Amino acid sequence: MRLRILPNFLVQAILLHHGLSAVVDNSNQIPKLHPRGQIVFNMGSSWSSPASKGQEIFKPADAVATDPSEDPRYRRFTHFLKLNHHDHAIFYHNLQYHNHLPYALASAYIFGGSRDHLHDVYEECSKELEQWQDSPEEIDPDNWRAHLGDKRYQRAYLSFFEDEMEQRGHDWKATLWHFLTDKQVDEGGNDWDNHQLLYGLTEGIGHPLIHLGYALELEDKGLAMEALAMAAVSYNKVHELVDNPYPPLPFITTSEIREVLDKLFDDPNYDDICSKNGMGQPSKILDDPPYVTFYGYVIQKERAALLEAYQKQVEASVMLFTTSHKAGNPQYDFFLAHTVTAAQALRVILPHVDTQQTWHLVRAHMVLMAQVYLSQCRPTIKDWFVDDYDIGNKDWDYIKKKALESEYKYDSHYLKVLRSLQEFEKLFGTGEPGEKKYNMYLKAAVKFADEFSGWIGFSNASMKKLDIKDTNNTQ
Ligand SMILES: *[C@@H]1O[C@H](CO)[C@@H](O)[C@H](O)[C@H]1NC(C)=O
Repeated sequence: MRLRILPNFLVQAILLHHGLSAVVDNSNQIPKLHPRGQIVFNMGSSWSSPASKGQEIFKPADAVATDPSEDPRYRRFTHFLKLNHHDHAIFYHNLQYHNHLPYALASAYIFGGSRDHLHDVYEECSKELEQWQDSPEEIDPDNWRAHLGDKRYQRAYLSFFEDEMEQRGHDWKATLWHFLTDKQVDEGGNDWDNHQLLYGLTEGIGHPLIHLGYALELEDKGLAMEALAMAAVSYNKVHELVDNPYPPLPFITTSEIREVLDKLFDDPNYDDICSKNGMGQPSKILDDPPYVTFYGYVIQKERAALLEAYQKQVEASVMLFTTSHKAGNPQYDFFLAHTVTAAQALRVILPHVDTQQTWHLVRAHMVLMAQVYLSQCRPTIKDWFVDDYDIGNKDWDYIKKKALESEYKYDSHYLKVLRSLQEFEKLFGTGEPGEKKYNMYLKAAVKFADEFSGWIGFSNASMKKLDIKDTNNTQ
């Protein structure tokens, strides 16, 4: 029986902590939950896309790399990647911002941008970046775990991983997977509680995951070592929310990500989350995370179930991002965008990992979605904003044109989101004409490409811009 793994008092303590009363009946080991408020799934029931080509998430993504001697565009692109790697730190602006130049360059390259355009992207996006600073101490094989989570060590970690790669005859893949999956179980810990860097990829609103996705897709060793360094200095405690393979099971479990979001939407414990924390503070959410909701999200550890959960998370992240603004005032939130681009990175990474790791990463993406859903004040998702969106004759060529020519052509997040949506369509198809979800990724892409007018979500002022429910009546 699964619940035997964790002592019942722990189940009780966790549930009580969240304002729920739990009675755990020792004879049958099933906790009975009496939620304080009524749980109503009022944001639209979850749905599945039409039969799809989704099995392909377990096959490697299309290769992007070509022979540089034959493709001057590719040569220019990789030249700029190297330049950035050499000249600019991964974290800048008091170690708060991530260097997004590789994502902007890669997106522009994959959309077919010319050599001159790639040059302009480099010039524009590198303006605000900073040079590397020395780290307080070197990283070596004996102390490499000592400074995990400390961004001041970004340079030292990168040098360390590059040395390790050199010692492996420049085999970047061997180096990458060695350090991503190297296990450490603390003394007295449970063997599932192992600290592999892979399990920290969704830290920092998913940036290490996104970086790794680009490294694998572009087969670029510089990006791969940057991804390792970024994962190392971002490593924190997200994995603790996912590690336990046999969590205490709340009475209500689900394999529907939309129900997870619905539960958070209705959870009165989070009614004052934004009056307390303000908006745009995702790290604060993890100080007191919704354990019960996380435990209640149950995905079987086998491929079909993982694929289905992944597809639903993709769909939910797209709907969350594109439809949670107010009617008649389209707005696009920076943090919610990262659930979309992180989902696309997962698509690139999943073919390289085993079932246990897939399970972990899919759940970690669920945690990321829940985290930013709360930090952005639980906006209301309204699928019909996309379902009913009229795209006229616009197609992916139109999207490509927007990505390369619109006023946001140097905005790495704008490019990344458009690319992600196109990749999702390649993966899951368009569905059949007449179906409610027909063409959803293209509709979402056109809606976003045409309506975008700058990112919101960083500060309290953005609270008025998303469709956030008024919780005053609960005080
Ligand atoms: C945002 O709101 C929170 C909570 O009300 C407050 O503590 C914080 O100071 C506000 N931030 C700004 C920049 O106004």
